[in-house]
Parts: sequence; structure tokens; C-alpha cells
Amino acid sequence: MQASQPILEITGLTKTYKGGFTALRGVDLTIRRGEIFALLGPNGAGKTTLIGAVCGLVRPTSGTIRVFGEDMGPNWRHLRARIGLVPQELATDMFEPVIRSVRHSRGLFGLKPDPQHIEGVLRALSLWDKRDAQIRTLSGGMKRRVLIAKALAHEPELLFLDEPTAGVDVELRRDMWRQIALLRERGTTVILTTHYIEEAEEMADRVGVIRDGQILMVDEKKAMMERLGRTEAFIALAQPLGQLPPQIAAFPVTLTDEGRVLCYRGGGGEGASAGTSEVAELTKALTRAGIDYTGIDIHESSLEDIFVNLLEGPDALNASARGAGE
Ligand SMILES: Nc1ncnc2c1ncn2[C@@H]1O[C@H](COP(=O)(O)OP(=O)(O)O)[C@@H](O)[C@H]1O
Ligand SMILES: [Mg+2]
Repeated sequence: MQASQPILEITGLTKTYKGGFTALRGVDLTIRRGEIFALLGPNGAGKTTLIGAVCGLVRPTSGTIRVFGEDMGPNWRHLRARIGLVPQELATDMFEPVIRSVRHSRGLFGLKPDPQHIEGVLRALSLWDKRDAQIRTLSGGMKRRVLIAKALAHEPELLFLDEPTAGVDVELRRDMWRQIALLRERGTTVILTTHYIEEAEEMADRVGVIRDGQILMVDEKKAMMERLGRTEAFIALAQPLGQLPPQIAAFPVTLTDEGRVLCYRGGGGEGASAGTSEVAELTKALTRAGIDYTGIDIHESSLEDIFVNLLEGPDALNASARGAGE
């Protein structure tokens, strides 16, 4: 297939589950070869259903899915062999040793055994030392690595990661991000779902936002983060202030709680991380102005906050931010 051809083209995809719930409503989505695409959305948005449809686990009600330039319908089996899936749920053969489980995943797709490839995958995920351990004996984070190893065992060109870092600690999350970046360097196309804006910000080339089974927007990450990123900080002042001192008037701040709390809201327009560094600047300015503070509560708005904002207008975001600060 040509390099310029999309690796995945979803058109008009609808899924109504038995029982009548419609989880996907006319989804159109095109994924470019070699990109990292983050699908962001709250619980129940339809992310796992969408992945399931592409991986042959969920039968679409209507719509078409083309992968590698071919229609998924009739060609399901041989196309699926070129797709990797790291599922959201940790359902795997818990009593198997790591290496057997990973080898098995390769065999499942009809590939010849390749001990060197399996070893490479296990080493890359820091699982080589654990290769003979039963999966059930590993920590949650290590189990998640096994799922990734299983998904990479058959050298997929297109890899889905369904909330790969939900509930894992920060260190492991960073480790996974490195793994994903390495995969991209090797030419694998990666589609991941996540709740974490930070994750999308770190990893993705493009971001799609899904809610209620509909794609709300798809954009280059940079452009989207500029529109959506927000940081809120609540700085508890040692002494109440009657009005904003001129030294900090240029910051996006307001006084609340009868002058006892300085409320910062910013970062939009320059990306989510810009807010954090601006808060650092703000605290320096406070110190220079001789204003003491007793605590800072800083909060990066989650995608769910942003959805609330999108749904109910700017007041809703303010209200949820106040709630978080109290
Ligand atoms: N097998 C199923 N039968 C009925 N409803 C389902 C089934 N699987 C998921 N759903 C519903 O479809 C919606 C989307 O689910 P899902 O795709 O898992 O969302 P997400 O992964 O974004 O959290 C949810 O409301 C969920 O309850
Ligand atoms: Mg899900």
C-alpha cells in the first residue's frame, strides 16, 4: 500500500448493543500511517467499543472499516493478524509463565516462532527477568506490561492501547510512554485511549475527542491543547488582601473567600503545562511583593472538567474548580 494511504479509515460507524443502547453514532475517523493518535473521552464515551469494532470483537451495526487499504468485513482474519491490541481489562492466562503466554499470542496469529523477537520484546519491557514467573504473581503494572508484550509478539503494524496507563504509577507510566515512542520510531502506528490530557500531550501527534459515541473533534495535538488546556491554582494567603496588588495584576488571578484565597486560572492558549510554569512565576511575584502564602492547591483540568465546560458553558468549569479548591 502507498505511504500516503491512511492505515485506518472508519466511515459512518454505528454500534447499537443488544438491549438497544447505542454506543457509537456515525463515527468517521481516519488514521495516518505512522502516527500516534490519542482518543480522549470520559467513561462510557465509546472508546473501547470503537477499538473492539476495529479488532473484530464488536460487530458494527452499520458503517465501514478499512484497514491497510482493505475492507475489514470479508477480510477480517488476515487483517486482524496485522493489528495488535492491549486490552483495557487485565484478563489473561494468569497461571501461565510470562514467556509462554507471549509466545502463544504470536502463534495465535499463525506466525512462525521467533525466540529472538520474543526475547527482544520481553527485554524492551523489562520483563526478561520475569519470563518464567506466572503472570498472577506479578504486580498490576507488570501485568500490564505482559499485555503489551503479548500485543507486540506478532509484530503488528497497527497497535491499539486501551487505557494502557490507567491506575499505574507515574514511573511506570513514563516507562510506557518511552516504549510507545520507540514503537513509533520503528514505524508502528499507535492508537491509544486515555483519560489523561497529560498523556495525550506527551505522546500524541493528533488527538480525537469522543463523547456519547460521537467524535467531537479531531486535531493536531498542539492545536487542541492550546484550546483545551487549563490550570487552576488556589493559593491560601497568610493575610487576607482587600484588593489585588499591582505586582500580580498581570496574572489571570482573582481574590476569593474574602481575600483569603488567590485563585489562578490560566494556561489555555499556550498548552496545559504553560499554566504550571506561570503559577511558579506567580508565587515568585508574591514573594517579591512580600505576600506570604500558606499553601497552594494546583489542579490541571481533566478532560471531564473540559467536557463539563463544553457542555454547560464557562460557569460550570468555574464551579467545578471552586469545588476542587475547597
Ligand atoms: N456489551 C455491552 N452491552 C451493552 N452496552 C454496552 C456493552 N459494552 C459497552 N456498553 C455501553 O456502551 C457505552 C460505551 O462503552 P465503552 O465503549 O466501554 O466506553 P469507554 O471505553 O469510552 O468507557 C457505555 O455506556 C457502556 O455501558
Ligand atoms: Mg473503555
